[in-house]
Amino acid sequence: MFETSALTAADKAGQYAELAAQLHGLLHGETDLVANAANFAALVYHALPELNWCGLYFVRDAGNGDDDDELVLGPFQGRPACVRIAFGRGVCGTAAATRTTQLVPDVHAYPGHIACDSASRSEIVVPLVRGDGTLLGVWDVDSPRAARFDEDDRAGMQALCAIFLQACAV
Ligand code: SME
Repeated sequence: MFETSALTAADKAGQYAELAAQLHGLLHGETDLVANAANFAALVYHALPELNWCGLYFVRDAGNGDDDDELVLGPFQGRPACVRIAFGRGVCGTAAATRTTQLVPDVHAYPGHIACDSASRSEIVVPLVRGDGTLLGVWDVDSPRAARFDEDDRAGMQALCAIFLQACAV
């Protein structure tokens, strides 16, 4: 059994360093994408305060005969969420289309935000880019508190995503 322990560092950067070590230990030696994604979401959801949803969306062929891709829901923690998101739509689709982390202090002020859980007030979405430069999907985290995420969260979440990608060897 993997034992998670409460984060003890006083500042966010230190807490993310502890969380990164825990995530590395949790995923080390396992490459299965779905299993690692599920444990990634569970670890973060129970370790960090003021979250109401976290999880992954994976890039899938939209199946419409052309080259369009879309995001499809993967493992997560929180309330049931919307399953398919087109590239360029919402915070997740924007992170996928631009391949840049989206830090949204107020989802109500974000044009095109897709509300899956009405409790969500702020959100951070990190694109998951494989070693070969292609996009695997996105990592999405929601909070019921406005402006819950800052630059420390951006750096910390991006570091966690790098550990996830490395463990999955994608
Ligand atoms: N709010 C996201 C949709 C996904 S849910 O938050 C789980 C968006 O605007 O892309």
